[in-house]
Amino acid sequence: MNEIAARPNNLDAFWMPFTANRAYKATPRLLARAEGMHYFTNDGRTVIDGTAGLWCVNAGHGRPEITEAIQKQAAVMDFAPTFQLGHPIAFQAAAKVAEHTPPGLDRIFFTNSGSESADTALKIALAYQRARGEGQRVRLIGRERGYHGVGFGGMSVGGIGGNRKQFGAQLPYVDHLPHTHSLEHNAFTRGEPAWGAHLADDLERMVALHGDTIAAVIVEPLAGSTGVLVPPKGYLARLRTLCDKHGILLIFDEVITGFGRLGTFFGAERVGVTPDILTMAKGLTNAAVPMGAVAVHDRIYRAVVDNAPDGIELFHGYTYSGHPLAAAAAIAAVDVHAREDLPARARAIEPYFEDAAHSLRDLPNVIDVRNMGLVAGIELQPRPGKPTDRAVRVFHRCFDDGVLIRTTGDIIALSPPLIVEKPHLDRIFETLGAAIRAEAA
Ligand SMILES: Cc1ncc(COP(=O)(O)O)c(C=O)c1O
Repeated sequence: MNEIAARPNNLDAFWMPFTANRAYKATPRLLARAEGMHYFTNDGRTVIDGTAGLWCVNAGHGRPEITEAIQKQAAVMDFAPTFQLGHPIAFQAAAKVAEHTPPGLDRIFFTNSGSESADTALKIALAYQRARGEGQRVRLIGRERGYHGVGFGGMSVGGIGGNRKQFGAQLPYVDHLPHTHSLEHNAFTRGEPAWGAHLADDLERMVALHGDTIAAVIVEPLAGSTGVLVPPKGYLARLRTLCDKHGILLIFDEVITGFGRLGTFFGAERVGVTPDILTMAKGLTNAAVPMGAVAVHDRIYRAVVDNAPDGIELFHGYTYSGHPLAAAAAIAAVDVHAREDLPARARAIEPYFEDAAHSLRDLPNVIDVRNMGLVAGIELQPRPGKPTDRAVRVFHRCFDDGVLIRTTGDIIALSPPLIVEKPHLDRIFETLGAAIRAEAA
């Protein structure tokens, strides 16, 4: 291990994202190396990864196929523009991704992150509505407790108050569907809850209110970052029907649910609903190089591109759209998913994962356990007057006992790499259960 990885001598300069900087820098926890199901800390401890990094290292850490593809590409060509030029590997990566996207969604726009994918999807939706002569459709509908990253578009359609309150101005012409979380109706449900499909009907109310000005609805098939909200049975199908009825595009944000997380290549397949536009990032490159993408239905691509005057058809893109190193990583990562059938692997271990998660239900302060695919949420009763404190303390205990979990509010989210095996799950859930018990003592 090199010296810098082992012990940085200055923690001040890095303003850490979504972090309690002062608390972290007072007691830093540093990860220095990763392999397979494990991280290794700078002081040499092994930490089992219960969260696939940040829901992104779906194929496990340090996959040699991906590392080698990146190294090889870096030596061949470090960078080339994709504005009015191209390089083969970007086209190959797009074609490779399109082999796995839902039927029809085979036009791929590359970005560098989930946030950029969300903003790109919203912009494409607006451009499409205008291209087909529905330019009055400028309104974007998100959902309470939705997370679509931190750009102004994603933040505005997102439904997490804490992520918005510091920033004042949001996009205009945005509205939100109600979230689908209900402890009263759905606590301790395994898989999709029975209650809540009717919440999609709120879109009818919005159409009554906003008329034909709605361009698109964006939702996560399963909302992850906001605390694992599993879609109620029939909810997404209902949303699809209503969008079709009213000329509204349906966007699935699959930044978390893509790449096998729900036991299918994309979540759309698992929930049996095909969106018009689908965003992805994270697992696309197994997180080895930042990359996001937006899969767009051919009909939308054709409407925007074929209806445009000669010249650039969509005034949007990033310097690094289709970056060679990211494209190489994506091709290798998609190949790993396909060759090892990681979605099937996730499906096979899902029942064991589900049982393990629900074995926590009787522990003190556990008020809900919910799960789908290889995602589980364990909701804790907040400490009176100290929201998030209980979960953060459980997080620290687990980390110090060698297990990485993730918390959001007082909800613990688990999303291990899809290569997880039963002994890993035993260790993760035993450690988590012990930490929850210890915090109650
Ligand atoms: C559903 C969803 N959309 C968008 C994002 C934002 O992705 P990024 O952090 O890569 O910008 C995330 C990140 O967790 C996400 O879960």
